[in-house]
Amino acid sequence: MKKGKFMEFFKKFIDIFKENQKKELKDLVAKKLIGSNEEDGELGEIINPYTKETTTRYVKCTPEDAKRALETAKKAFKKTKNSTLAQRIAWIEDVAKKLEERKEEFAKCITLEVAKPISQSRVEVQRCIENLKITAAAAYDIVGETIPTDATPSGAKTTSFYKRVPLGVVVAITPFNFPLNLVAHKIGPALVAGNSVVLKPTPEAPYTAYAFAKLFIESKYAIDDALSVVYGDAEVGSTLVKSPIPRKISFTGSVAVGKIITQNAGIKKITLELGGNAATFVENSADLDWAAKRCAVGAFANSGQVCISLQRIYVDSKIYNDFAAKLGEEASKLKVGSPFDEDTFMGPLINEEAAIRAENWINSAVNEGARVIAGGKREGNILYPTILADVTDDMNIVCEEVFAPIVSLVKVNGYEEAVEKMNNSPYGLQYSIFTNRIDLMQKAIDDFEAGGVIVNDIPTLRFDIQPYGGVKLSGIGREGPKFAIEDMTEIKTIIIR
Ligand code: SIN
Repeated sequence: MKKGKFMEFFKKFIDIFKENQKKELKDLVAKKLIGSNEEDGELGEIINPYTKETTTRYVKCTPEDAKRALETAKKAFKKTKNSTLAQRIAWIEDVAKKLEERKEEFAKCITLEVAKPISQSRVEVQRCIENLKITAAAAYDIVGETIPTDATPSGAKTTSFYKRVPLGVVVAITPFNFPLNLVAHKIGPALVAGNSVVLKPTPEAPYTAYAFAKLFIESKYAIDDALSVVYGDAEVGSTLVKSPIPRKISFTGSVAVGKIITQNAGIKKITLELGGNAATFVENSADLDWAAKRCAVGAFANSGQVCISLQRIYVDSKIYNDFAAKLGEEASKLKVGSPFDEDTFMGPLINEEAAIRAENWINSAVNEGARVIAGGKREGNILYPTILADVTDDMNIVCEEVFAPIVSLVKVNGYEEAVEKMNNSPYGLQYSIFTNRIDLMQKAIDDFEAGGVIVNDIPTLRFDIQPYGGVKLSGIGREGPKFAIEDMTEIKTIIIR
């Protein structure tokens, strides 16, 4: 083929390719959902982390789209705040029902998008269904109470009370590690409380969020424009956060982004569910078989990409070797492989960059004296379940959040040393203790500096009904339907003379 002809053919090929992309995009991203009319906008790609194939593409929103979505939500708030609670509860229940009908499809969607093993994606979908039901039920408790303003003489002949009212526009920014259920934790409480919402899912995994948002938008109980989704990067997020329109920002993600949000949000409510370096103490009296079995799950589920992933295990010196051997044995039973295989326990990390960073941390720990007793091997973005022994307090691997399948064993002499070391962390999301001693259980509840304390199980345990959130750098505020609803409303005081 002559050069001129080849160029003509090549150009045609590119045009067809672009045309196909646009068609694909139109199906994928309904305009109503992104509040955008930028069909020619920059494309984002959703890449299957296991096969590295492009699953699909989406149009990234611009800051202008984000502003439009906020304006739409502002107008929609007039409708949401005047809607009945009955309608909003029916709405959330309807979404739970629709999700139940399509649960396998959603599980596959999660696995395709973030490579969560299919059995764990199913658990996430089931949790989400239950979470929505709990949210609908919790809305019956949006109540106020009377205030005895006649408690001072000047209040004679007054009748006073307060009620809870919605805030206005809520911005929800969600991460990739639970691309469905962590969206539900924000938009469910916000909508049922009578707010309107602009959702910005992570650019790495916006498809599950899109499909989920569609269930809300297409429900027969939906309130028009109450929910919009914007897809984009930091610039879009920053536009949402800085705007004076939202009354609340609810964010789950990294400490670094959490800090930027607090610097830019101005006077609005903020919930930050940030990272952690969750720890446990395995004490002499603990059931070691149970502790080892559970610790393997806590450290390696979802490839450690969980804010409460078990990262630090403090083990009493008397049982250290025994426990390390049992944990190694449990880790060796976990199947690493294709996330679509039914018996796979661990798939890849979200991308190779994350796996390389984790590998570098392992290497520096080893250079500083740690010993790899399991795993330590990386293939592309798969990092095998890794257990490090003889880790010391100053190593990055324990001080920072690893967000990868790596767990460190630290030898301690007794409870007091364990508590001191566990609390010596800038984070405090959830901590746990394995022991059969009631006095230590009670002490741990008081001593552990964390948002949640678990006794005889892993710190990775979360029930969606519980208050969930951290202290220190792990965040501000609590999620969990009842607590998020409270946070998505404010108190209005009424005094009648
Ligand atoms: C998170 O990573 O913070 C969520 C953990 C969970 O919901 O189980």
